[in-house]
Amino acid sequence: MRVSRAVDAVIEFLEAEQARGVTHVLLDEEAREGLRNLYRAAAKGGRKPATPAVSHAVPQTAPAAPTVLSVPGDGTKATRLAALHEQAQHWQPAQALGTLRETMVFATGNPDAKLMLVGEAPGYEEERKREPFVGPAGQKLTRILQTMGLSRDEVYLSNIVKFRPAMARQATNNRKPSPEEMAACLPFIRAEVDIVRPACIVALGGTAAEGLLGLTGQVGSMRGSWHEFAGIPVRVTYHPSYLLHSERDLTPKRQLWEDMLAVMERLEMPISEKQRGFFQSQSR
Ligand code: URA
Repeated sequence: MRVSRAVDAVIEFLEAEQARGVTHVLLDEEAREGLRNLYRAAAKGGRKPATPAVSHAVPQTAPAAPTVLSVPGDGTKATRLAALHEQAQHWQPAQALGTLRETMVFATGNPDAKLMLVGEAPGYEEERKREPFVGPAGQKLTRILQTMGLSRDEVYLSNIVKFRPAMARQATNNRKPSPEEMAACLPFIRAEVDIVRPACIVALGGTAAEGLLGLTGQVGSMRGSWHEFAGIPVRVTYHPSYLLHSERDLTPKRQLWEDMLAVMERLEMPISEKQRGFFQSQSR
């Protein structure tokens, strides 16, 4: 019992560190010996030793994993994206971190899309279905797209990080990717943008804006104007999960809709009176 409490305390401490963005913990020899003793006592007492935080991480010894992305110059957009997809499955820089789960979730939608939307990383549902934006936040995004007059098949949906970030004792809970995890996967989103060449990109949430544009701070200070990535105009707006968590606050909803109207204008999409006034009718 005492051992299991001590193990739980260590896990709790590591989770708290992880929650505040710490990705590495320095252990001196004394601390390491303490952990070894805990491990031995837990094993002796019949308690299964605590599962390490990286238990779902990609095996670090996968054979012949690529470290340099090879972006095909020839072929259709679909075949070039398929070549990226293939390389992402065994992407060594992501595997080497040991903090990402094994299942790779690439992108979905139209390789010829005019609009590309970029999120942070797959979550529980996305990992299960191997498709980006299919969980609650994804369903919200699908409704937003429908209000714009677009289907998921018309746009290109992707994430900065292609694997669900791992957590200790993870069930359906998700976490934001760390800067290291984003850096490891960045070659993919860069190559995807280069292949799809959309007319406009939407970065969904602060993490996507940080990964794509290097911006830090509040989404409120990034949204409402145009940025640029690889020569393509980028609009930053709230992540749909933020709207789900602030159901009563109408301001982010109104602002997200303003951002989407700006995107529609940029894409020269027709905008009906109903769409222009959509938010007013919702808030009444
Ligand atoms: N949140 C994201 O940022 N991406 C997904 O694919 C799902 C949820």
